Amino acid sequence: MCGMAKHNPSLATADRIEQMFSGIVPWYDFLNRCLSLRRDVYWRRALVQGLRLPRRPLVLDLAAGTLDVSLEIVRQHPQARVLAVDFSLPMLQQGREKLLARQQGGIVPVAGDAYALPFPDRTFDALTMAFGIRNLPDHLLALQEISRLLKPGGMVAILEFVPPSGGLPARLYENYLTRLLPLVGRLFSRHSFAYSYLAESILHFPTAPVFAQLIEEAGFQEVRWQTLTMGIVSLFYGVRGEE
Ligand SMILES: C[S@@+](CC[C@H](N)C(=O)[O-])C[C@H]1O[C@@H](n2cnc3c(N)ncnc32)[C@H](O)[C@@H]1O
Repeated sequence: MCGMAKHNPSLATADRIEQMFSGIVPWYDFLNRCLSLRRDVYWRRALVQGLRLPRRPLVLDLAAGTLDVSLEIVRQHPQARVLAVDFSLPMLQQGREKLLARQQGGIVPVAGDAYALPFPDRTFDALTMAFGIRNLPDHLLALQEISRLLKPGGMVAILEFVPPSGGLPARLYENYLTRLLPLVGRLFSRHSFAYSYLAESILHFPTAPVFAQLIEEAGFQEVRWQTLTMGIVSLFYGVRGEE
């Protein structure tokens, strides 16, 4: 598939998304660094810096992939315990190898689906999700499941690419997304769908103010957001109410 894909990413099934991520695992971290010019490291750091956590927090890192956010959480909060959930076993396996190589404790990878997580209500002090929500077609349902899992007062932190707007020369960025990014992605990963899907799913994602409103609709309070790197990505935060 060359250049801009014509499909609507919301039509990509969960199975296809799972196979896609499992298929690009060997190149995933490398391409993240390369295609973002290492900004992805800074974005995850900023995501975790915005978290308000109690002293020994239990954190769920959802759509954890190769565990970069989980690792950033324990780097900034050595007392934290993190459950890292993803439905792609190869992604988690790659992350597990990083844990072993660094002899890093405090992080437990768990296989699970974001819509039906195997944890009781009000389990976690905080929940992070980086570049995951875009892959979940029903955003509101996913946010409601997140709310169910948080303790009252618990914080959700979401990092996501948002569609280009006035902040950045939008046409330039759109060209990068739909032409260069799929080309480089395909060249390395040999995966024809994944990096076209990435571009398409970014262009179909709601704008930051609209997504922030959806977080409120899911019942979160103190919702705030900020954009980084000329509006390429947004950080969203919300707090589960006391009820
Ligand atoms: C772009 S990666 C992000 C990984 C990681 N958070 C990071 O910052 O690099 C998206 C991840 O979401 C996972 N994912 C997508 N849909 C999911 C679902 N329904 N349940 C659990 N994980 C899902 C994929 O397997 C993939 O690992």
